[in-house]
Amino acid sequence: MTKTTISIIKADVGGFPGHSSMHPKLMEKANEQLKISKDKKEITDFYVGKCGDDLDLIISHNKGVDSSDIHGLAWDTFVKCTEIAKELKLYGAGQDLLADSFSGNVKGMGPGVAEMEITERKSEPLVCFLMDKTDPSAFNLPVYKMFADPFNTAGLSIDPSMIAGFKFEVYDIYNNKRVFLNTPEELHELLALVGSKSKYVIKRVYPKKGGKYPEDEPAAVVSTDKLSLIAGEYVGKDDPVAIVRAQSGLPALGEVLEAFAFPHLVSGWMRGSHCGPMMPVAMEDATPTRFDGPPRVVALGFQIANGKLVGPVDLFKDKAFDLTRQKASEIADYMRRHGPFEPHRLAPSEMEYTTLPKVLEKLKGRFEKVA
Ligand code: F6R
Ligand code: MG
Ligand code: MG
Repeated sequence: MTKTTISIIKADVGGFPGHSSMHPKLMEKANEQLKISKDKKEITDFYVGKCGDDLDLIISHNKGVDSSDIHGLAWDTFVKCTEIAKELKLYGAGQDLLADSFSGNVKGMGPGVAEMEITERKSEPLVCFLMDKTDPSAFNLPVYKMFADPFNTAGLSIDPSMIAGFKFEVYDIYNNKRVFLNTPEELHELLALVGSKSKYVIKRVYPKKGGKYPEDEPAAVVSTDKLSLIAGEYVGKDDPVAIVRAQSGLPALGEVLEAFAFPHLVSGWMRGSHCGPMMPVAMEDATPTRFDGPPRVVALGFQIANGKLVGPVDLFKDKAFDLTRQKASEIADYMRRHGPFEPHRLAPSEMEYTTLPKVLEKLKGRFEKVA
C-alpha cells in the first residue's frame, strides 16, 4: 500500500506591517507555485496557511520525509515570495532564508519543517498546528497532555486501544541528542525532561509496539529547527508547526484541541525575549499586534483521502475557545506589567541568542571586583 507524506514547511519571508501578519500577495504567489506542482502531479495536494508573519506550506505527496524534491519546491516557493516581499519592501523580506542557494534539504537553512509518512487509515483525521511568536517547546505541554494526561485525554483511561499509552521522542536541543520514553511507565521521567522546556522538546509521539497502528509511524510530529542557534544570533523567531493525527485509538479531535484550552506560558513574545500566554485563534485572527503578541496558535483540521487534503476546518474559530482567549488576554496584561523584569523577560540563558549580549558588551569594562 502506498504511503502518504504530509509535510509542513514554513518560513517568515516578510511581515506586513512589521512582524504582525502576512501580505495577501505572498499567499497568492505560494498558491500559484504549489498549484503548478500539483498540476504536474509532483505533489498530491496542498494548502497555504499563515500564522502571524509566517507562511506555512502544507503539502501532501508520496515522496517520504526529507525529500529533496519537496524541500526544493518549498525553498523555491519561499524565494519567489521573497521577491514580492522585496518589491513591496515588506518587513524582514527573506529573513528566514539563511542560505544563498538550496542544497538538498531545508533543514539548517532557516525554514522549519514537520513531516510524517503514514499508512492512511480507513479515515484519517489530522490537525496541522501553526504557531507564531514562540518556539518549538511551546508544544511540550499540549502534546504531553494529548498523549499522556488522562485529565485531558479521557481515552487514556477508558478506551482499551489507548490504555497502553504512547512513546515519546524527546530532543536535547543543546547537545543534539534524543531519548525515547514510554508512557505511562516513564511518565515522571518524561515530565522531568519536557518540563524543562528551554532544553528539551518533544519531537515525535509514536504508537506503542503491539498496538493498533504501526509503531514506526508517528501520531504527532513537531518542527524543532532552532533558528536562533543555526544563525548564531537572533534573526527571527523559530515559530514552530506540528502535525497531529486523531481518533480511533489516538486522541479524539476534541482531546487534541482540549490541550490548548489552557493558555500556558511560552517563550518567544516580543524580540524573542519574553514569556507570555499562548492564545488559540482562527487563522484570520492570528495577527499578533499587542507587544508583537501574545503568541498565537492556529489549528487546521483535515481529512486525508488518498493524499487529498479534504478541508481545512479552522478549528479554533469555535466559540468554545472564547474563554481561553479572554484568559490569555488577562494573563498578557498581568505579564506585561512586569515590563523588563523576569519572568516576563526570559532568563539570561535564553537571552544568549538575542540582541541583549551586544548591550551588555558596552558595560563589560565597567564591572569592578567587589572586595
Ligand atoms: C519577530 C518578533 C518581533 C521582533 C520585534 C523587533 O517575529 O518576534 O517581536 O523581534 O518586532 O524587530 P526588529 O528588531 O526587526 O525591529
Ligand atoms: Mg518576522
Ligand atoms: Mg513569526
